[in-house]
Amino acid sequence: MKGDLLYEGKAKKVFKVENNDTHLILSYKNDATAFNGEKKASFQGKGRYNNLISSKVFEYLHGKGVTSHFERCLNDTEQLVQRTTIIPLEVVVRNIAAGSITRRLDFEEKTPFNPPLVELFYKNDELGDPLINDDHALRLTDITEQELQQVKKDALAVNQHLQTFFKEVGLAIADFKLEFGRNVDGAIVLSDEVSPDTCRLWDITTGEKMDKDVFREGTGDLLQVYDNILKRLEAAK
Ligand code: TMP
Ligand code: ASP
Repeated sequence: MKGDLLYEGKAKKVFKVENNDTHLILSYKNDATAFNGEKKASFQGKGRYNNLISSKVFEYLHGKGVTSHFERCLNDTEQLVQRTTIIPLEVVVRNIAAGSITRRLDFEEKTPFNPPLVELFYKNDELGDPLINDDHALRLTDITEQELQQVKKDALAVNQHLQTFFKEVGLAIADFKLEFGRNVDGAIVLSDEVSPDTCRLWDITTGEKMDKDVFREGTGDLLQVYDNILKRLEAAK
């Protein structure tokens, strides 16, 4: 049974599970934010899309042997996960240039990165999630050098799986963000969500952007795009 609210983020609420210290319930909200919270809106049904899409992604990754916090999807907007303490790092993997890297550095949008590029950002709203290097990560979090190298390796392995997963439904994954958490045993596992909020997904045939960029850039209907992704994934499996 769902217990007390533990934490509320921009896109999700985290609840305790009654009489259980090892699991949490993630509840996906309808809110969308962009540019570090500067742009905000609410979309009726967005929480359902992200919950169902992220659940499918984590189920697929589980089948590929990727250890994560995900236990199971509970209903339209909620999932049961193992309790973890999130390491405040955003691990971004880029296959094709888009977003902040095109502004920060002189990469033209759509420039391919082969091998894929891994970037670390410090998850800190007040600082605006700055780009950091490995040495910063070791000093800003409790992650060890060995764990950090493993996290980056895991992120690249997840990238391989996500490329295959989305390619089957006609989508290229340009980039995405992962978060890792420490579970009750002290091990680091993939946590948070993988959804069109946290990935850039481009239609392989038309190049159309099918992710939160339609909201960030104001170029399309977020609900329509997220619905399209869920329908493709449901049709495929
Ligand atoms: P960026 O181009 O803004 O650095 O984003 C890279 C990827 O990471 C993109 O797929 C969106 C995702 N992302 C998040 O999920 N949360 C964030 O706070 C940021 C900055 C990016
Ligand atoms: N910066 C995030 C994004 O654009 C969201 C946010 O911080 O509000 O994806």
